[in-house]
Amino acid sequence: MFKILKKRELNEQVTLMELDAPLIAKKALAGQFIIFRTDELGERIPLTIADYDREKGSITIIFQKVGKSTIQLGSMEEGDSILDVVGPLGVPTHFGTDIKRAAVVGGGVGCAIAYPSAKALNNMGVKVDIIAGFRSKDIVILEDEMRAVSKNLYITTDDGSYGTKGFVTNKLSELIDSGADYDLVVAIGPVPMMKFVCEVTKPHDIKTIVSLNPIMIDGTGMCGGCRVKVDGKTKYACVDGPDFDGFKVDFDELMRRNSAYKNQENESKTHICRLTGGVRHG
Ligand SMILES: Cc1cc2nc3c(=O)[nH]c(=O)nc-3n(C[C@H](O)[C@H](O)[C@H](O)COP(=O)(O)OP(=O)(O)OC[C@H]3O[C@@H](n4cnc5c(N)ncnc54)[C@H](O)[C@@H]3O)c2cc1C
Ligand code: FES
Repeated sequence: MFKILKKRELNEQVTLMELDAPLIAKKALAGQFIIFRTDELGERIPLTIADYDREKGSITIIFQKVGKSTIQLGSMEEGDSILDVVGPLGVPTHFGTDIKRAAVVGGGVGCAIAYPSAKALNNMGVKVDIIAGFRSKDIVILEDEMRAVSKNLYITTDDGSYGTKGFVTNKLSELIDSGADYDLVVAIGPVPMMKFVCEVTKPHDIKTIVSLNPIMIDGTGMCGGCRVKVDGKTKYACVDGPDFDGFKVDFDELMRRNSAYKNQENESKTHICRLTGGVRHG
């Protein structure tokens, strides 16, 4: 059992939880994730390790309550325990050597996944610019944390209610055109956002790492659920990723595969089990 040590609502939909998980905290690195199950009938759900404290033996997860399992997790409180947390899973992000200046681009809750990458680059002595995009001011998250690990933090909002009006890709183009000599761009967020970031960086030949979020089940390379096409070859995001060279990813196929269970996902939010009278698990 994994005890919830701390719970903080970052906005109406996004929750931060610190979990007691000493063995995972001991090994976790930027780019890795866990898979949790709230109880024995729960789905297996992947979430990025947003932070870890090796001395305290804790990890931090930040998640958006988008459907049944994340809403269920969000309803748990400090002191409650989660049945299973498996990890750290996936390959830690490999940024490469000789990186002097990097842009880390996060979209919405993707900023929670981008934050550990920015922190790791900052710790390596890289000059990091973070471009964080949100729909509007009321859902901005982790502003202080991102500012602390970057030289410059640029916030964009779709409606202009905070920071610069527009998309992260507009700000990234503007910075590149005005002479920002990035050796690396890390883009994490909705799949279309990552696709368009790659379209901005490719003509400038700036290495671009993306973190993919296909549907995962076992997280150990056995079920094939998380397969993605990279450079024309099948890769398993849970063991070969989740980070990949953005120029080689087939984003359109990923979008198609991620929407394959939309009807069932919507149904599971409201389904009342005739046997238990409660919301069905799994
Ligand atoms: C490696 C990885 C890291 C992730 N890290 C984070 C994170 O740090 N914070 C965060 O908010 N979200 C993260 N996600 C996405 C998160 O796993 C989904 O939001 C979650 O699974 C939704 O489950 P649900 O039952 O609440 O919603 P549902 O209504 O079941 O699904 C909503 C959407 O979530 C995705 N999804 C559903 N089931 C799975 C699954 N088993 N595996 C992957 N995606 C699924 C699908 O795109 C689906 O359309 C990550 C995904 C991956 C693959
Ligand atoms: S989640 Fe099963 S192979 Fe990756």
